[in-house]
Amino acid sequence: MRRDLQAVVAADINWGIGKDGTQTLVIPEDRKHFRSVTGGGTVIVGRRTLADFPGGRPLKNRRNIVLTRDASLKIEGAEVAHSVEEALEKCRDDGEVFVIGGESVYRAFLPYCAKAHVTRIYAAADNDAYFPPLDTLPDWILSAPGEEAESNGLKYAFQTWERV
Ligand SMILES: NC(=O)c1ccc[n+]([C@@H]2O[C@H](COP(=O)([O-])OP(=O)(O)OC[C@H]3O[C@@H](n4cnc5c(N)ncnc54)[C@H](OP(=O)(O)O)[C@@H]3O)[C@@H](O)[C@H]2O)c1
Repeated sequence: MRRDLQAVVAADINWGIGKDGTQTLVIPEDRKHFRSVTGGGTVIVGRRTLADFPGGRPLKNRRNIVLTRDASLKIEGAEVAHSVEEALEKCRDDGEVFVIGGESVYRAFLPYCAKAHVTRIYAAADNDAYFPPLDTLPDWILSAPGEEAESNGLKYAFQTWERV
């Protein structure tokens, strides 16, 4: 586990996070929250999730490390890593590092994460991508449940989960 490594995700009640390569439930306040949590840090992101960003471009004001198995892929404004180990090595001295998805990247990096920032959306969407269900994992606790709020008719809370 690495103290500096944190997952950031918006998950519905079934831990669903997306369908057909894009996010299903979008809350503007969550986008703002995401920028405020990750701003100035390093993000680790899967190649499919990067493709879903506006213009398929890396995030501004953050060091972007993109996971891909494609040895020839080059991305302007980002660094490429070809394995979990390579990505972890690249950001070894970075301070705060955020794992920002998608499903395969969350699964691969969660064992190294100490904390997860979960925007929990109290609705069930039709998803084909999921975050590991933290409420069933014995080594994770909900350390801060957050206050329930509502946006676009969706109830949500900014939760913090920590590894015990
Ligand atoms: N709700 C949220 O907060 C949130 C956040 C992010 C994403 N999502 C959703 O998650 C879904 C995408 O998840 P996904 O699992 O399909 O895609 P992904 O994790 O974003 O990207 C998968 C790609 O990453 C690369 N990769 C993954 N593990 C690797 C490893 N160990 N070593 C080297 N490369 C690796 C591979 O790229 P190559 O194919 O190039 O080899 C793989 O195809 C979408 O629906 C998206 O909207 C939701």
